[in-house]
Amino acid sequence: MTQPSTVCTKGIILAGGSGSRLAPMTLGCNKQLLPVYDKPLIYYPLSTLMLAGIQDVLLISSPDEIHRFESLFGNGSDLGIRMQYQVQPQPDGLAQAFVLGESFIGNDPVALILGDNVFYGDGFSKSLQAIAQNLTGATVFAHEVSDPSRYGVIELDAGGMPISIVEKPVHPKSNLVIPGIYFFDHRVVEFAKALRPSARGEYEITDVIQQYLNDRSLSVSRMGRGTVWLDTGTPMALLQASNFIAAIEQRQGVRICCPEEIAARMGYITPKDLRRLAESMESDYGAYLRSVARQLGHSTIPS
Ligand code: G1P
Repeated sequence: MTQPSTVCTKGIILAGGSGSRLAPMTLGCNKQLLPVYDKPLIYYPLSTLMLAGIQDVLLISSPDEIHRFESLFGNGSDLGIRMQYQVQPQPDGLAQAFVLGESFIGNDPVALILGDNVFYGDGFSKSLQAIAQNLTGATVFAHEVSDPSRYGVIELDAGGMPISIVEKPVHPKSNLVIPGIYFFDHRVVEFAKALRPSARGEYEITDVIQQYLNDRSLSVSRMGRGTVWLDTGTPMALLQASNFIAAIEQRQGVRICCPEEIAARMGYITPKDLRRLAESMESDYGAYLRSVARQLGHSTIPS
């Protein structure tokens, strides 16, 4: 049955996981609070949701860690968004986010982003907004990588329609994998509830996507070569992500995935609010926020 299109205004950030591949860095700190160059990793997925136009956010993390995020973002009002929090008792898989988030989702569509995924690219926020504004069924991205076996692999036909999805296949049928940002209509809750754990004992996101594929309501958006998707699961990947962000920020004098700036540019807060947020930060980051606030403040003065 054809599903109606709806606007997606809600997003879930899954910031759980044990971060075991990053120990000892993660022994005293949640992985998503480690720095990627000049800001905590969690700022990147939060920024991505905000750039999609999403202002209702549920952050899911472990019972020991959730309070750290609550003290970082509070109710979200500093950023002009609404933040809620949900504990994931056990890291039993990504698809659990929809069962845990059932009352947050209600009858609405929802985006899911993984707390350790970093996205960057010209035009990427426009394509996120286009998907969020007009969602039918589910939409996922497909991105080319050199090591597809580590991810959920998607196979497309010549017309770009999805044919198969396999989680971490030994013999991948393509180099296209599904990065950690997904858009689903409200049926995702019932689809997630129907899952059985996979061979690795997890409720797999790919099994949720498979149900949309079976239902013929899965759309796939190819990420072009100019869109960067970075992984941060190992010390080297984290360093490479930091180096990448630093190289662009230093060269261009802009900050990537800076939620305070995005909040002001998206109109979620005023330039004055942004200046107030910057006041508590003595760092170069704070100075940058002050310069953005000045720039936006001036540009909103009628000529
Ligand atoms: C998870 C998903 C996989 C997806 C990947 C993106 O893998 O299961 O389908 O491609 O995130 O980062 P995991 O992080 O559980 O290895």
